[in-house]
Amino acid sequence: MARPAAAIILAAGQSKRMKSATSKVLHEIGGRSLLAHVLATCAALELERTVVVRSPEAGDVKDAAEAAGVPSAIQEKPLGTGHAVQAARKALGSFSGDVIVLYGDTPLVEPGTIERMLAARADGADVVVLGFIAANPGLYGRLIMDGNHLTCIVEAGDASAEERAIDFVNSGVMVAGAETLFGLLDSVSNKNASGEYYLTDVVSLANGKGLSCTAIECPEDEVLGVNSRAELAAAEAALQRRLRARALEAGVTMVAPETVFLSYDTALARDCWVGPNVVFAPGVKVGEGAEVRAFSHLEGATLAPGAQVGPFARLRPGAVVGKAARVGNFVEVKKAHIEDGAKVNHLSYIGDARVGANANVGAGVITCNYDGFDKHFTDIGEGAFVGSNTALIAPVVVEAGAYIGSGSVISKKVESDALALTRAEHKQIKGWAAKFRARKEKEKSKG
Ligand code: UD1
Ligand code: MG
Repeated sequence: MARPAAAIILAAGQSKRMKSATSKVLHEIGGRSLLAHVLATCAALELERTVVVRSPEAGDVKDAAEAAGVPSAIQEKPLGTGHAVQAARKALGSFSGDVIVLYGDTPLVEPGTIERMLAARADGADVVVLGFIAANPGLYGRLIMDGNHLTCIVEAGDASAEERAIDFVNSGVMVAGAETLFGLLDSVSNKNASGEYYLTDVVSLANGKGLSCTAIECPEDEVLGVNSRAELAAAEAALQRRLRARALEAGVTMVAPETVFLSYDTALARDCWVGPNVVFAPGVKVGEGAEVRAFSHLEGATLAPGAQVGPFARLRPGAVVGKAARVGNFVEVKKAHIEDGAKVNHLSYIGDARVGANANVGAGVITCNYDGFDKHFTDIGEGAFVGSNTALIAPVVVEAGAYIGSGSVISKKVESDALALTRAEHKQIKGWAAKFRARKEKEKSKG
């Protein structure tokens, strides 16, 4: 059953510092957009409702939210975070449970942290704010505490020198009952240094009404906000640290984890071995004990237990490598199944194909899968042997146990256990080279 809580994700700010034609929250870290990370957190919490607040121009944000089954509300003008939360009011309709305010540009908040905030609400706090100790408090709103009690949030631009020295600051994430939150927002004014309606003013207003406010602390890495490309890179780095730590914790060996790049959905089973400088783009699953050697790039690929790929392998979407199968150096595989025990060890392109169990594909073999208009399939049967530097002109079938001589161009079916070769005949002229050299040397000495 859904939890009696709703999320409002603020994403209507101007984000000028990204210098981008794409809305800020659609920039990606770990293989998916900032917004998709926040929506995934909401999905994990099984909330009753989620609403994204966007600017009228951000059709791309509307589409991305809708693709995830989430409606968006429009904030006509960016008049401040308080004003933005109000823009979502209508979309929440009669909802009366707890409201969680999240930022679309703050992608790394963990569901467990929000659960701690909801628990503090359930324990009686009316407003719960997520704070952190900032290495550089800079422009963050300062949390003014009295013991466990949060008395107010002072925005940096409005803070005194003494307040600016405080390093416990506001992440922007807030939880409050719907009625309390919207009731208090009605009284927020824009008489402050930036002329905006501050969501953070809700705290002092709540205290004025005798309501209780508190702050929950989390590590700074969890609430990194993205306002520029540099901060996008910093958020990526923080996410990578988290993903690597999780993989190691799950029993994966990484020789140099700091050089391995993972995606939000990379699934590495225990006892996988990952060499240095490997990139896992989205959609990769690696089975138990499989090996991914140095400098490989994988996307949308599945490795069965005990498979071995790389070094320098490129697995593209739809690549499936079977049990104890091998894909070696400078081999590109796309939408192809390398079945159990098969080997494609050197310098090949295998696209739109099946390489049957225990087949051996020699160095430099290419599936010619594209005729400029359509893609065609190559089917290599079990135990077949494809000699080096063979071009397989798809659609083509090589039946089980067939043998193809090196350097062949195969455009017809090769029958089971047959030998096929298209090699030009070997000619040899005895003594030709010696005569040739003698002639050339004579010409040179004359000349
Ligand atoms: C806000 C907080 C500050 C906190 C900081 C954390 C307020 C007044 N201040 O400041 O205490 O330390 O975040 O990063 O809340 N947005 C809208 N519409 C608007 C304005 C903002 O949707 O009119 C969205 C932005 O897209 C962004 C989020 O709200 O996702 C935060 O806005 P931003 O302008 O970055 O707030 P800060 O000034 O950084
Ligand atoms: Mg900000």
